[in-house]
Amino acid sequence: MAEDEKRARWEACYAQAETLAPEPLPFLTAHADWLPASGRALDLACGRGGNALFLARRGLDTWAWDYAESAVAGLRQRADGLLLQVECRDVTAPPPEPESFDVIVVAHFLHRPLFPALAAALRPGGLLFYETWAGAYAGRGPQNPGYRLKLGELAGAFPGLILLELQEDVDRAAGVWRW
Ligand SMILES: C[S@@+](CC[C@H](N)C(=O)[O-])C[C@H]1O[C@@H](n2cnc3c(N)ncnc32)[C@H](O)[C@@H]1O
Repeated sequence: MAEDEKRARWEACYAQAETLAPEPLPFLTAHADWLPASGRALDLACGRGGNALFLARRGLDTWAWDYAESAVAGLRQRADGLLLQVECRDVTAPPPEPESFDVIVVAHFLHRPLFPALAAALRPGGLLFYETWAGAYAGRGPQNPGYRLKLGELAGAFPGLILLELQEDVDRAAGVWRW
């Protein structure tokens, strides 16, 4: 599917979606004690921005990037009074700049060519949280296997970083790394 078509699908999907407050990943909130008290954070391919809101509410200077305006429109309103910058943009072109964030969160988005840029975008001591669908489709997430991690794949995705914790279930994988 062409990238323009994918983007249009996401726009349509969010335009129809309910507008309940978005929630952060349980994997992220479970490790909240590891987050720095200050610094720059990025929620990459943020969707409705539950992770971005969580990071900004903890006092991090947070960016939320997604190319679907209908996804981030509600987040712009929720960002009032927070250190939260919402940008409607393609996260792959350009990717985040080297050594630009202390925390990066990627949830339910998979673009393998971006892995090296994500690792490089961490500042010294920074944390990368990555969670997405994995293994064979079992009723949740995308059915296309190209949009799912292979089981075991996430463990080796960021060889230059220190893997602090990895969780793999039957249909999802999540990890957190330090620079
Ligand atoms: C499954 S949603 C996940 C959203 C959010 N991270 C979450 O976990 O709720 C995938 C998101 O990736 C965004 N996306 C896909 N490709 C993108 C790209 N190249 N640049 C920016 N956003 C992209 C879509 O618009 C969509 O919001």
